[in-house]
Amino acid sequence: MCGIFAYSGEEKCLGIIITGLKSLEYRGYDSWGIALKTNKGITLKKKVGKVSEIVDIREVQARTGIGHTRWATHGKVSVVNSHPHTDSAKKIYVVHNGIIENAEELKDLVQGDVFYSKTDTEIIPKLIAHFQKTDTFPEAVKKVVGLLKGNFAFVAIDRDDDQLIAARNGSPIVATQSGNNFYISSDLQSLIQYSDRAYFINDGEMLVYNPVTKSVEFYDFIKKVSIKKKTQPYDINYGNSDQGSYKHYMLKEIFEQPEKLSTTYNVNVNDFDIQFNYDLEPSLFKNIDRVVIIACGTSWHAGLVAEYWLESLAKIPVEVEYASEFRYRNPVLSEKTLIIAISQSGETADTIAGIKEAQKNGAQVLSICNVPGSTISRVSNATVFTQAGPEIGVASTKAFTTQLEVLFLITLYFAKIRELLSDKDITNYLKNLAEIPDKMEKVISQAAQIIPIMESHYTTTNALFLGRGVNYPIALEGALKLKEISYIHAEGYPAAEMKHGPIALIDRNMPTVFICIKDQSYEKVLSNIQEVKARDGIVIAVANVNDKRISKLADYVIYIPITIEELSPFLTVVPLQLLAYYIADRRGCDIDKPRNLAKSVTVE
Ligand code: F6R
Repeated sequence: MCGIFAYSGEEKCLGIIITGLKSLEYRGYDSWGIALKTNKGITLKKKVGKVSEIVDIREVQARTGIGHTRWATHGKVSVVNSHPHTDSAKKIYVVHNGIIENAEELKDLVQGDVFYSKTDTEIIPKLIAHFQKTDTFPEAVKKVVGLLKGNFAFVAIDRDDDQLIAARNGSPIVATQSGNNFYISSDLQSLIQYSDRAYFINDGEMLVYNPVTKSVEFYDFIKKVSIKKKTQPYDINYGNSDQGSYKHYMLKEIFEQPEKLSTTYNVNVNDFDIQFNYDLEPSLFKNIDRVVIIACGTSWHAGLVAEYWLESLAKIPVEVEYASEFRYRNPVLSEKTLIIAISQSGETADTIAGIKEAQKNGAQVLSICNVPGSTISRVSNATVFTQAGPEIGVASTKAFTTQLEVLFLITLYFAKIRELLSDKDITNYLKNLAEIPDKMEKVISQAAQIIPIMESHYTTTNALFLGRGVNYPIALEGALKLKEISYIHAEGYPAAEMKHGPIALIDRNMPTVFICIKDQSYEKVLSNIQEVKARDGIVIAVANVNDKRISKLADYVIYIPITIEELSPFLTVVPLQLLAYYIADRRGCDIDKPRNLAKSVTVE
């Protein structure tokens, strides 16, 4: 959350910083701000709104500057609260991502200073200025980082000093140098155009770039020692992030799913043999006695689907935990526990904290991640990358289905090592998996069947999503998609739970979306549909082609091709993504940047 981009070098920097911030806008888009170092001092530009809305901005002669795109944590969305923040003498300017938990306490150190904003960030420039009464700019920053509690990444500039200083503890920051130009950013993607190598800054580290000597120094502020750091290569072929002719990124990303699934399959499967490109010993899968999956949001839903697969095919006990709960729960873990951490961004603060907690307790962590070079891929013992390419729409779609695919491959791999499935069984499952992209293409090509449903229900205020077995998590995902992009209240439930509460909500105005495919629960779900119809509820069903019974019962049916029960979530989720998309579009919502959300949740 919040994007930081900073530059120091030979070019005029305003355009460079705006370009950097635009590529970071997925991290927060309440307001933006830039501080530029000129011959006459610091020029500050701040505005409420999205950085992508900048059309015309007056050029400034500056070759060092810092920029920020905000997702508000402390203090409402306003120009005053937007970053960069400064000290009372307007000498130090800081952009920050994270939360300074002890900001209020630290104010005692700068008594007499007047705080103009409601942010936790403002304490940083005020403290740097305070220590600068006796220390140099870098020495003052070292003192400040030693006092801060919470997660942070920040960059600071000084009106009277040419150096650019960044520090990290818990929130991401990377840097790169290309000739005499130095860049700092919240993510690698925004640096790709400048270099294919980067300085990966770890928690507890700080960098000082000197534009006069063109040199960068690193410091470990936990151990209080200078450290050496070299740039490391990273994968710049991660994918393009053009919107193409699509109205929204989300629609493009829904439509891309078959292709991304094929790529993820081809990278990991060779001639029906699953080969992951990581360093975990196969024996690990033999020796462990339990899997704990940790994730947040949509990634957590992928974990819930995998729980069904791992338990039924690999016969291993699985727990699926919200990373935010897991990290504070004192979980019982051992060397025999495998943690599977799932994250699209690889930067989710709660998931990172959960991984660290697990490793402290001796557990190995295998992560499933979409972003090469991200924090989660670097702190985990091993990572399998989803090949979804950059996901720009805040609502996760293609990352989810590629996560499912990797989780299914892990399940088969597990089952093979534990001698629970024969080669023939595995080949059979893989053949079915390889057919999914074509079947998904069919679902997408019939997207038009969703339009009349959208037209009749886009004004609804509530919706219920029900499914069973592997499709219960898909019901949760359908509800999450609808609420996050259309702001309609929606709940997902296991279909049989309806009778234990949600049935009270059913009336002639409320749509209930049933996932009712021909699996072992088919008859039971049909009964649940009858129960809704008996109470005059509206039923929208996702069902298999040629299902004649459902067409007589439901008000609307979205038909999908048949696959084996285990793999049905790949096909049932797509109509729900499209339904949410079309409803949100009809309501005129800002689909790719829904209110209050951000793509990368780097605060607790
Ligand atoms: C929902 C959504 C979020 C994320 C969650 C975890 O569409 O995108 O719920 O799934 O914030 O993010 P990652 O997967 O990046 O850890």
